[in-house]
Amino acid sequence: MPVNLRSDTFTKPSPSMRLFMARAEVGDDVFGEDPTVRELEQKVAQLLKKEAALFVPSGHMSNQIALNIHGRPGDSIIAHRESHVLYYETGSPAVLSGLDARVIDSEDGTFGAEEVRALLKPVNIHFTRNRILSLENTFNNRGGVVWDHRRFWELCIFAREQGLKVHLDGARLWNACHAARKIPSDWTQQLDSVSVCFSKGLGAPVGSALAGTAEFIEEARHVRKRFGGQMRQAGIIAAGAIFALDNNYERIGEDHANARLIAEIVNTSPHLSCPQPPTNMALITVDNPGFDAHQLVAAAADEVQAFALHERRIRCVTHLDVTEDDCRRGAEAFVRAAARLAGEGN
Ligand SMILES: Cc1ncc(COP(=O)(O)O)c(C=O)c1O
Repeated sequence: MPVNLRSDTFTKPSPSMRLFMARAEVGDDVFGEDPTVRELEQKVAQLLKKEAALFVPSGHMSNQIALNIHGRPGDSIIAHRESHVLYYETGSPAVLSGLDARVIDSEDGTFGAEEVRALLKPVNIHFTRNRILSLENTFNNRGGVVWDHRRFWELCIFAREQGLKVHLDGARLWNACHAARKIPSDWTQQLDSVSVCFSKGLGAPVGSALAGTAEFIEEARHVRKRFGGQMRQAGIIAAGAIFALDNNYERIGEDHANARLIAEIVNTSPHLSCPQPPTNMALITVDNPGFDAHQLVAAAADEVQAFALHERRIRCVTHLDVTEDDCRRGAEAFVRAAARLAGEGN
């Protein structure tokens, strides 16, 4: 079996997680009668130091519920051009909420108050209203980049002073916490809303949560229904998230170490390079102009799977279903395949 480094969303629930899920008490959550969902929502609200939280089927829905509440049609959202909310969520800010996107193009996905200030428009009849700032931590599309905590904090304060609502897509906030030696609530205090995912680094099969004030979450419950995201005996999957928080949070540092190991091995190839991964994503650059990332992925496919992000770049994501040994094998497979493509024998 090839080592699967395509994404941390490929993890499968472990036997003990499945057992825990099977034993979950459930009820009809649309009527507020699922005790396991309630338990998860309270746990998440506490962890993020917010008044309340809502369990939702996906990170995509969680983000878009927040944006829908924060803005009205004709308002603007400021976010990085390749943030998940703008780039990978099928135009939802425009389609579901009528939001106008003003984009930031920073190198690593993070930015400061000056970049945001440059996008603020005068308040008059010509412009969409300055309304939402959406941040992502870690930033997926640049390889799991962690925000500098101080910069993040100051940006949030600046944005709120400007009257913006600040949302965080924290699909991998857990990874950011490990890398920056922070606890989740260190990031959330200046936020109006935060979305977190259980189905990525934490290894649960399904689910995300949105957190904010009690009033915001009451509204979010309503919007979740409008988007068709209400669930019935959802405790069975909420249990997977509870198990994941209790058992898989502490070990996330291992994924980061494995990503660094991949980079180290890849850097032994004269044809490839890989900067030190900040969290659980190693971005391999194909330096040899004689072949591209798609060819390298295809050449190594029997031994390792990863996505080519574009012509020169491959993303390898570590997670709890790949061991240190798997990561070593996967990285070595890329090094060998690169040598073959470069015509170095074997
Ligand atoms: C940064 C980020 N936000 C949101 C999502 C959406 O999560 P989901 O696949 O649960 O909709 C993803 C998915 O990979 C992501 O990487």
